[in-house]
Amino acid sequence: MKQRVLFVCLGNICRSPAAEGIMQKLVEGEGLSDRIEVDSAGTYGGHAGDAADPRMRRAAAARGYDLTSRSRKIVSDDFDRFDRIVVMDDTNYERVHRMAPDIASAEKICRMTDFCRRHRADHVPDPYYEGADGFERVLDLLEDACAGLLDDMRGLVRD
Ligand code: 4NP
Repeated sequence: MKQRVLFVCLGNICRSPAAEGIMQKLVEGEGLSDRIEVDSAGTYGGHAGDAADPRMRRAAAARGYDLTSRSRKIVSDDFDRFDRIVVMDDTNYERVHRMAPDIASAEKICRMTDFCRRHRADHVPDPYYEGADGFERVLDLLEDACAGLLDDMRGLVRD
């Protein structure tokens, strides 16, 4: 069965595009591109149409990830389209939860840091007003969480 995952942050220019790029690379590396589809969105639409923040693109590129997505705001149709909606922090969680049209949709929402196995964190911090260290910290958490998420999904995408 095909699984569709949507990563959500605030602006969809830093954290969630990076999560999308990291997950995409892991999925391709395991030959699961026809089984797992990834996308990202933001709860704030002010950057709609923008490429990922250049600071995040640079930091991600240094680790081998090419971030090509364009920012978009999450829409109610996303609850139909996606099997899992993975949010970066409590504010995203609350905003997305408020949009959920029914209980089944609300149950699709989970926190990115719940999939971390090497790091202890309860959210992926917003790096927008931070220095370079903030972007590296975000990538450390996202690499850890994407590996955990892929492992969690393995059983769902097997033949
Ligand atoms: P993101 O970071 O939610 O990780 O994409 C931010 C991007 C933009 C803003 C805040 C956070 N902003 O205030 O415009």
